Amino acid sequence: METLTPHCIRISMAKLTISFAFLLSCSFFASTEAYDAGGSNGNITIKWDVVNWTPDGYLAVVDMFNHQKNRNIEAPGWRLGWTWPRKQIIWQMVGAQTTEHGDCSGFKRNIPHCCKSNPQVIDSPPGTPYNQQIANCCRGGVLRANTLSSFQVTVGQAGTSNITVKPPMNFTFKAPGPGYTCGPTKIVRPTQFTTADKLRTIQALMTWKVVCT
Ligand SMILES: *[C@@H]1O[C@H](CO)[C@@H](O)[C@H](O)[C@H]1NC(C)=O
Ligand SMILES: *[C@@H]1O[C@H](CO)[C@@H](O)[C@H](O)[C@H]1NC(C)=O
Ligand SMILES: *[C@@H]1O[C@H](CO)[C@@H](O)[C@H](O)[C@H]1NC(C)=O
Repeated sequence: METLTPHCIRISMAKLTISFAFLLSCSFFASTEAYDAGGSNGNITIKWDVVNWTPDGYLAVVDMFNHQKNRNIEAPGWRLGWTWPRKQIIWQMVGAQTTEHGDCSGFKRNIPHCCKSNPQVIDSPPGTPYNQQIANCCRGGVLRANTLSSFQVTVGQAGTSNITVKPPMNFTFKAPGPGYTCGPTKIVRPTQFTTADKLRTIQALMTWKVVCT
C-alpha cells in the first residue's frame, strides 16, 4: 500500500465510495434511535461512523438525527461545523459540501475538497446527480423532526487506526430559529448495520457522537 501513486489512491478512494454507497443502499439503520425517549425539547444527535481506513485516513458516514418533537429544520437548512485537532483535510464529500475550500496550495496533484481547520458543511441540493448522493442526503438542509440527514466524508492526514485517529471537535450546528450548543465528541459503541436480507450485521470501525441542544 505504501507504493500507491496518488492516481491509484484516487481510484481506490473512488472504489470505496462506490462500494459504500452500494452498501448503504442495501442496508438500513438500527431503528432504536428513531424513538423519542421522552426528552423534553429534544436534541440533534450527530454520529460519525468510520467505515473504512484509507492510506492516509478514513472514510466516514456522518448522520444528523433530529430528535426534536415537531420541530423541522427548514430551508436554508442546517450548517455543521467542527475543528480538526491536527492538520486533517477533506479529500472528498458525497451528499454535502464545505462552504469554503481553504488554502490547499500545499497540494500539487490531487487537490482536496477542503483544507480549512474549521470546515462548515452544508447539505447538497435536491436534484444532485445520483452518483454524488448517499442515502438520506441532498434535501437542501431540510431536516424534519424524527428524520436524519447523512453525508460521506473522506478524511486525509488523519490517523489510520482507532488508536492514532483523532476525532473532530468543537462542533457547531446552525439552523434557522433558536441556536444550538453542541457537547463534546464522545467515542461510543460502534454502530451496527444490518443488511437488507437480515443475514449479516456489519459494524462500524469506530463511532463518535455529539449531541447539540
Ligand atoms: C437526545 O435525544 C434522544 C432522543 O430523545 C435521547 O435518547 C438522548 O438522551 C438525548 N441526549 C441528550 C444529551 O439530551
Ligand atoms: C475547542 O474548544 C475548547 C474550549 O473552548 C478550546 O480550549 C480548544 O482549544 C478548542 N479546540 C480546538 C481544536 O479548536
Ligand atoms: C480498537 O480496536 C481494537 C481491536 O481492533 C479494540 O479491541 C479496541 O477496543 C478499539 N478501541 C477503540 C477505542 O475503539
